[in-house]
Amino acid sequence: MNSENNQDNRGNKNKQKENMKVSTQPYKGVRDFYPKDWRFQKWLFWQMSSAAELFGYENYTASPLEYSELYIAKSGQEIVDNETYNLIDRGDRSVTLRPEMTPTVARMIAAQVRELPKPIRWYSIPNLFRYEKPQRGRLREHYQFNADIFGIEGIEAEIELIEMGAATLKNMGLSISDFEIKINNRKIWKSIFKKFTTNPSTIYNLSKLIDKKKKLSKEDFEKLIIETFDSEATEYPEKIDEFLQILETKDISELADYIDTESYEKTKSLIESLQEKGFTNAIFDITLMRGFDYYTDIVFEFFDTNPENNRSMCGGGRYDDLLDIFAMDKIPAVGFGMGDVTALDSLKVRGILPELKSKTKIAILPVETSFNVDAEKFATKLRSENINCEIDFSDRKLAKKILSAENREVTFFMALGEDEKTKQKYTLKNMVTSEKFEELSFSEVAKILKD
Ligand code: HAM
Repeated sequence: MNSENNQDNRGNKNKQKENMKVSTQPYKGVRDFYPKDWRFQKWLFWQMSSAAELFGYENYTASPLEYSELYIAKSGQEIVDNETYNLIDRGDRSVTLRPEMTPTVARMIAAQVRELPKPIRWYSIPNLFRYEKPQRGRLREHYQFNADIFGIEGIEAEIELIEMGAATLKNMGLSISDFEIKINNRKIWKSIFKKFTTNPSTIYNLSKLIDKKKKLSKEDFEKLIIETFDSEATEYPEKIDEFLQILETKDISELADYIDTESYEKTKSLIESLQEKGFTNAIFDITLMRGFDYYTDIVFEFFDTNPENNRSMCGGGRYDDLLDIFAMDKIPAVGFGMGDVTALDSLKVRGILPELKSKTKIAILPVETSFNVDAEKFATKLRSENINCEIDFSDRKLAKKILSAENREVTFFMALGEDEKTKQKYTLKNMVTSEKFEELSFSEVAKILKD
C-alpha cells in the first residue's frame, strides 16, 4: 500500500514538473545573442561608434525605463497607443520601456541645457522595445545607433549627419549604390496641406496615410485618400486628382508654387550639397513622412536598394521643438536612428558579412588532467603578454578537446604533456590555416600569437 502511494506521489511530481516546464524560447519578437551572434553585434556597434567618433560625437547612455509621460507628450499618439510596453510600478507610476532614444536624449539635454557647451554632438546605441508585429526587419526589440546634434540651425547639421550615416554604412562594407537617401521637408507638406484643407484631423490622417503609401496598393491608397477627404470635402474630385498628382512629383522644382520659398530653397540646397559631395544617391521624395510627430523641418531616410531587403536602414530629421515639453527655450536639433536588424540583413543579402573568429587566440590542451597546473602556469605567462587564452581542464581525450576548441573558433591550439613540460618546447597548430609550428620556445609562441 505504502509503495503504491509512493509511486503515485512520484508520478504526480513528474506530472507537476511537466506542467511547470518553462520554455527555452525567448519572448516573442526579441532575440538571444549567443556568443557567435553577439560577435556580429559588437562588430556592428564598433562600425557605428567609430563613424560617430570620427565626426566628433561623444557617447552617452541612459536607462531603458522612462516615465510614460515623456512619450505621451511627443512621440506621437500612435506610437504610445500601439507600440510601447507600459507598466504601472509599485508606487503607481506609469513607466514605459523606451521605444526610441530621441525623447530620452532631449530630456537629458533639457536637464543641463545651460551648462552643456554647444553645439552638443552625442551618440548612443541603445536597445529599444516596440510592441510591433514581428516580421523580417522589424522586431519587438532592436539596437539603434542614434546620433544627434543640438545647437545648429543651418543645413550643415543635416549634411553632417547624413554624411555620418553614409560613413557608417561604408564602414560596414556598403557602397553608395547599396542605398538611397530620401529627403523631404515637413514644412513642404504644411504648405501643401494648407491648399487642400484646414482640418487638423484630416491633415493628421493624410500624413499617416502617406507614411504608409509604400505598403499599400495604388488602388487602396487612392481609395483611402478619397475617404479621408470625403469626410469634409465639397469641391472634389478635382482637388483629389491634384493631391494625388503632387504625390507623384519626383523633382522638387515642380512644387515651387506650393511651397514657401524658405523651405523650398533649404530642401533643394540640401539635396544639391549632398550631390556635390558625391552622394548621387540623395533624392527628393515627397512621400517621405517619417512616423514621429516631433519632426519640424527636413526629414530623411536611408533605404536599402536590394530588392530582397528593400527596407529603411536609417531615419531622422530636424526636431527643433522637442525641448518645449520641458518648458525650455527652443534649441535646434537634428538626429537619426540606424537599426541593427536591417543593417545586418543588408550585409547578409549581399553575402558580405565579415568572418568573425573568437577573441580567444589559443586553447591550451593538457593531454591529461595531471598537467592542468602546468597549463595554468603557461596561461598566466601568456596573459601577462596580453594574449587571450583558455585551458581545457576536462578529462576528455585530446582529439575531443581539439574539436571543441575548433567548434568555438579559437585560432590556435597547443597540447601540453610530459614532453612539453620537461623540454619546454612547444608545438602550435593554427586551426584555420592548418599551419604547424614546432619546437618553439615560450617567447616564440608568444610572438606568433601576437602577430
Ligand atoms: P525610426 O525611423 O523609428 O526613427 O527608426 C530608425 C531606424 O531604426 C529604422 O530606419 C530601422 O532601421 C530601425 N528600426 C525601427 N524600428 C525597428 C524595429 N521594430 N525593428 C528593427 N529595426 C527597427 C527613430 O526611432 C527616431 N527616434 C530616430 C531619430 C533620432 N530621430 C532623431 N534622432
